[in-house]
Amino acid sequence: MSEGNSRGITSNQTGPHNKLVEVVQRHLQHQSQKPFSEHTLEAFEAAQGWLNGFNGDLILDSCCGVGESTANLAKLFPQARIIGIDKSALRTGKHEHYDQGTENHLVLRADVIDFWRLAKQAGWKPVRHYLLYPNPYPKSAHLQRRWHASPSFADIVGLGGRIEVRSNWRIYIEEFAQALQVVGYTCQAESYQADTPMTPFERKYWNSGQQSWRVVTQLA
Ligand SMILES: C[S@@+](CC[C@H](N)C(=O)[O-])C[C@H]1O[C@@H](n2cnc3c(N)ncnc32)[C@H](O)[C@@H]1O
Repeated sequence: MSEGNSRGITSNQTGPHNKLVEVVQRHLQHQSQKPFSEHTLEAFEAAQGWLNGFNGDLILDSCCGVGESTANLAKLFPQARIIGIDKSALRTGKHEHYDQGTENHLVLRADVIDFWRLAKQAGWKPVRHYLLYPNPYPKSAHLQRRWHASPSFADIVGLGGRIEVRSNWRIYIEEFAQALQVVGYTCQAESYQADTPMTPFERKYWNSGQQSWRVVTQLA
């Protein structure tokens, strides 16, 4: 990945989308009935097999890319099991390079839209859920491609745990916080910095002088 030359987000939005609350509320009223994709069903089964009845702390690293954060979380939480999920086989295929030899993590190629639904149906209760640098879709017309304004938001909330979402686009995080407020959580966007970046995208943004934003809240 190129480092240090990432341009900031440009968008025709100057603040949270004015249709956000309406869209979130509409999606909350409808449960998706779409059939699950075969590859995600298989990935979910693989995850169940790997967990093998484990009933300690489970952590999800959704849209993990190459899974550098998954490996970092595995070191940070050695007693937990961490599952990183990304739909790009190209990215998950590079995980080996970022693996730090821990055995408490698994990186899977799967679509989180289906994976979250499957996990919720199976009663998974992750203690932490990371969503680091999701694709921002900054065009205002693409609002519903952002996770908080998509039908999947109900599944994210339903899974529970301490959710942490980071982005280099402040508005994305402000909107995510607003969507969480719609379902009853008090939270706010805050700036985020640390000594060491946790993911390749975080590294790229910081090397380019961009700032990160995050929202963190404890879901029931
Ligand atoms: C901007 S990258 C961030 C990757 C990583 N979290 C990081 O910070 O380096 C966004 C990632 O979301 C993944 N993604 C987008 N939609 C997805 C979906 N429906 N299911 C799984 N992964 C998805 C993409 O494949 C991509 O790797």
